[in-house]
Amino acid sequence: MLRFSRVIVACGVLLALACGKKEVRHAPPVSNYSYAQLDGAVVTNMTLDLNVDFDHKRIDGVAALDIDNPHGATKLYLDTWAMRILKVARDDPGTSEKTGKKAATPWTLGDSLPLIGRPLVVDITPDTRHVVVRYQTGADARGLQWLDPEQTAMRDKPYLYTQSESILARSWIPCQDTPAVRFTYSARVHVPAGLMALMSARNPRSVHPDGVYTFTMPQSIPSYLLALAVGDIEYRPISRRCGVYAEPNRVNDALWEFIDMEKMVETAEKLYGPYRWGQFDVLVLPPAFPYGGMENPRLTFLTPVLLAGDRSLVSTVAHELAHSWSGNLVTMADWDDFWLNEGFTTYFERRITEALYGRDIAEMEAVLGYKELLDEIKAAGPGSKDTALHIPLDGRDPDQVLGIAPYEKGYLFLRMLEGTVGRKRFDTFLRKYFDTFSFQPMTTGRFLKYMKSELLDNNEELAATLKLHDWAYEGGLPDNAPRPESARFARVEEEAKRFTRGAPASDLDTGQWTSMEWQQFLAQFGTLETAQMADLDTAFHFTKRNGEIQRSWYLLCITSQYEPDYPLMEKYLVRIGRRWLIRPIYTRLCETKDGRRRALRIYRRARPGYHSITRDTIDKIVDWKAANRRN
Ligand code: BES
Ligand code: ZN
Repeated sequence: MLRFSRVIVACGVLLALACGKKEVRHAPPVSNYSYAQLDGAVVTNMTLDLNVDFDHKRIDGVAALDIDNPHGATKLYLDTWAMRILKVARDDPGTSEKTGKKAATPWTLGDSLPLIGRPLVVDITPDTRHVVVRYQTGADARGLQWLDPEQTAMRDKPYLYTQSESILARSWIPCQDTPAVRFTYSARVHVPAGLMALMSARNPRSVHPDGVYTFTMPQSIPSYLLALAVGDIEYRPISRRCGVYAEPNRVNDALWEFIDMEKMVETAEKLYGPYRWGQFDVLVLPPAFPYGGMENPRLTFLTPVLLAGDRSLVSTVAHELAHSWSGNLVTMADWDDFWLNEGFTTYFERRITEALYGRDIAEMEAVLGYKELLDEIKAAGPGSKDTALHIPLDGRDPDQVLGIAPYEKGYLFLRMLEGTVGRKRFDTFLRKYFDTFSFQPMTTGRFLKYMKSELLDNNEELAATLKLHDWAYEGGLPDNAPRPESARFARVEEEAKRFTRGAPASDLDTGQWTSMEWQQFLAQFGTLETAQMADLDTAFHFTKRNGEIQRSWYLLCITSQYEPDYPLMEKYLVRIGRRWLIRPIYTRLCETKDGRRRALRIYRRARPGYHSITRDTIDKIVDWKAANRRN
């Protein structure tokens, strides 16, 4: 860890010299995404006191930081975003015993950079071990979404949730916002009476009438796993260590939908070792949540779209659970190595799915992912390194640049390795990898080195035939990439052909089709006649199916200009903020004649309810700026 961070610092200094920068107001950031100095003072523990003020949509916070400072640095660097700093104090050994008080200490907020915000630079001494920051979150704190009662299922009380990944934690807590720094934390959170507060920590199970909650997270985590949710929330246990949180009118549905959670944890443990976080609970959020799921430790956040009523979308829970090993235990050192989190997790997710629900189910998911990957590689264009495993982000916004490649190319890479050495050996290797590097940052280079020595006996010739370098550092897919195939999809494609040739929808053999088979079915058609669309609609009621099937249906509605379902599509786009579901719909609308005008009209209604992450993405698709300049 130390050696690794020194290398980064050295590179940063060299880079600054090479660029011929004359004046650096503060030491340059060691990463493109954080002002933290990994070789300087690092935060090891946080004690938070947060007051959640719904009236002003603001958190008033005190962050008491314990620091480790092995090389005697005299500045502490923290990341902040749109945050008001009220007071900074420090507590040097000896002084507090004498005065019983922490002494105010000089600090500055550096210039603001568009993506990464402002460094909070605090004067410390080589002996300082505690720094306390009093602050208020800003009106545009990007990691917070404040929801009005109408945006919740109960429509009665307001709701707040955080999304810290990738670099948004700094907007609600001053911290060293890089995945290479880990710390433990505890918190006291004050919320309006009647609401429940939950964190990525040991959680309450009932509402505290006084609105005061305390939390502890004894295992060290990176800042992107800091999480808080406040709302009208209830708990239902599934097992001793698993359960669901949701709004009162959703919580029983959630219990039914996710009843397999305990079995998932047991399956995961059999594969890659003990679950290390104690509790595995999920929280079902309101529909504005921009992701399918977020792996906040002890408390995965989920979109309510997963409440399909038929357990058809539970693989997302398996995915977030898998992060408890890949990501939360062994963590990418920086955002360029995102595949170390998501590729491993996609592989692990499908192994859980295979063990619990069968190989054909896991294989269908792999084929759908493969198709998305090929589309992304094509869109990136030849020569683009944005579809390499290690993505040279170069300061671009991770939330806008990182796509499907880290997930699906990462998955194929691990599947290729599995195929090369055999499943048994690969599983032993992965288990050892998680054990060896738990609670540590990992880079692509370090992983490849470890893998070569553990799996390939340092056989450089073999490494060359496996094209490790191409996989890791070049875009596209090397020719030794496995190609997932599904016999069940072959039958679906057959039925789709029969329909195109004139068979009525009611004649199709769709018996026990899963969500994936329906998606594959709908993806077979370019454009259909209005009568064909109506036939499908009446036979299969796609607008009433789960959110993923609806997405495929609305995409087909747009290319086929099938007007009758546009009002329901609009409702879907206004209600749901999950980016992966709605982005392709806006994109396709903007590709059709008159579609952009329709997209803009819908977006004008939907935008206020979306999370800033979703807004940033859709703004670009519909060219929101230009649209507002003209009007
Ligand atoms: N950690 C991600 C979500 C994320 C990625 C947040 C990048 C911020 C930046 C989470 O584990 C994830 O991958 N979610 C997927 C679900 C999944 C089943 C692939 C999603 O939201 O679609
Ligand atoms: Zn993930």
